[in-house]
Amino acid sequence: MIQKLTHQDIDKAVKLYRRELPGLLAELGTGFLKKFYKVLLSLPDCWVFVEKEDEQILGLTSGILSVGGLYKTIFLRDILGFTSIFLGIFITRPVLLIKIIQMMLYPGFKSDIPELLTIVVDPRYRRKGMGRKLFMKIVAEFKKKGVKEFRISVYDYLPSYGFYQKIGCQKKTSFYIGRQKINYYLYKIK
Ligand SMILES: CC(C)(COP(=O)(O)OP(=O)(O)OC[C@H]1O[C@@H](n2cnc3c(N)ncnc32)[C@H](O)[C@@H]1OP(=O)(O)O)[C@@H](O)C(=O)NCCC(=O)NCCS
Repeated sequence: MIQKLTHQDIDKAVKLYRRELPGLLAELGTGFLKKFYKVLLSLPDCWVFVEKEDEQILGLTSGILSVGGLYKTIFLRDILGFTSIFLGIFITRPVLLIKIIQMMLYPGFKSDIPELLTIVVDPRYRRKGMGRKLFMKIVAEFKKKGVKEFRISVYDYLPSYGFYQKIGCQKKTSFYIGRQKINYYLYKIK
């Protein structure tokens, strides 16, 4: 059953995220992601849903009405917590910190537009319609707010192109963070 992510389920959701969504945010570690989702739950016009069955998290999705300034907002909500995480990263993996700064400076992340931030389904439950259901849950929330279209930024190496194509998204542009290519997809709400 799809339901809103609760604080009690953040650990399980983060586990699924780290396992199945390799990328910059996952590289920042479990501690970072837990704080990230904790803050997302407190933001207005931000939705985080999970597919939950017998206490297991089988799928996760999130969307936000305005992605502009998201990372800054998140940082400011827990300055001490994030600073200590980033200091640890600075000492052990300085290159990762450079990537974070590049991402935060990317003009696309300053745009005041709606974005689907995450969608992931446990591999054992894929190709059974769960991804579509989660996606449409975010669509429904955007629709209530009068949103006509929204964006999705997806690492090029993720094999989810077929999914987005089937769902009706159009690939628009691409950009790079370091050597990592990221594609922007657009979904028009009917
Ligand atoms: C992308 C993802 C969420 C899709 O979840 P899912 O539950 O398998 O998706 P669905 O079963 O609802 O599929 C919806 C449609 O897309 C198609 N589809 C799903 N994954 C596909 C793929 N990898 N290649 C081609 N088509 C795909 C399905 O066949 C289905 O088509 P249909 O409606 O004509 O039958 C899942 O594969 C996943 O978690 N991937 C890893 C994380 C990821 O890459 N997320 C996207 C970046 S944020």
